[in-house]
Amino acid sequence: MTDIQQAALTYQCPDNAFKDRIILVTGAGDGIGRAAALALAKHGATVILLGRTQEKLEAVYDQIKAMGAPEPALAPVNLEVARPADYEELAGMLSDAFGRLDGILHNASILGDITPLDQYGYSTWEAVMQVNVNAAFYLTRAMMPLLKNSADASVLFTSSGVGRKGRAFWGAYAVSKFATEGMMQVLADELENVAPIRVNCINPGATATKMRALAYPAEDASTLKRPEQILPAYLYLLGPAGRGINGQSLDAQLR
Ligand SMILES: NC(=O)c1ccc[n+]([C@@H]2O[C@H](COP(=O)([O-])OP(=O)(O)OC[C@H]3O[C@@H](n4cnc5c(N)ncnc54)[C@H](OP(=O)(O)O)[C@@H]3O)[C@@H](O)[C@H]2O)c1
Repeated sequence: MTDIQQAALTYQCPDNAFKDRIILVTGAGDGIGRAAALALAKHGATVILLGRTQEKLEAVYDQIKAMGAPEPALAPVNLEVARPADYEELAGMLSDAFGRLDGILHNASILGDITPLDQYGYSTWEAVMQVNVNAAFYLTRAMMPLLKNSADASVLFTSSGVGRKGRAFWGAYAVSKFATEGMMQVLADELENVAPIRVNCINPGATATKMRALAYPAEDASTLKRPEQILPAYLYLLGPAGRGINGQSLDAQLR
């Protein structure tokens, strides 16, 4: 294990580590994204909650307000249908409200079908690529001017074990995660020594969420880590502790 991986897994985030940081989280209404948004807010971040289900975002908003954390912002966006102009519009609103962005956690994804490639549905393929890859590109591109206004910005993409080694039947999801790793590497290389923006990937590992239950319906979820238990590496890479770390693909759990 590398020193960086070790530091990420054992990171104990100080209370105010994210004070005055503005972090956008996609898929913030449920699963790992929800847990990450709550933890970021708890550590002082102003969180922009992006997701497709307004009620879920509002529930997270209420929880953050009840904690006495900085007031979050809601960004209801369906990543499957949003076009580049929608992301530009969101960037304009965030520019007016905050003037900068200190991080993006690209967390939202869909699983698609677990089925052989020669039977994979065309429309499911397109939906998975749209949500997991294209939307992450559109969002990152639109937010780049705001990220450049930060003194220390972190872009964190979410990968998967099947995005590092292909696995039968994982179809568009696995291919989308390879693309995610590739997008991270290209952007990290472009920004190395150019802008104070670092770009990395995180693989959460098996975590008890709706997506995991969809992929492994027979599994006993109580044997898995819960989303709130896998966050040290997220907070490490998104916040000040991860300054200078660029182009890495880390795990959030020991395998
Ligand atoms: N859980 C695991 O074991 C595991 C393992 C490896 C990698 N991952 C990765 O970790 C990330 C989080 O997964 P998770 O397990 O927390 O999944 P999850 O429970 O299914 O949550 C996914 C989140 O993404 C949102 N989302 C999905 N489609 C969207 C769209 N079209 N527009 C906007 N938001 C959308 C969902 O919103 P709604 O709730 O409104 O549908 C939800 O908030 C994903 O990138 C996944 O690939 C998870």
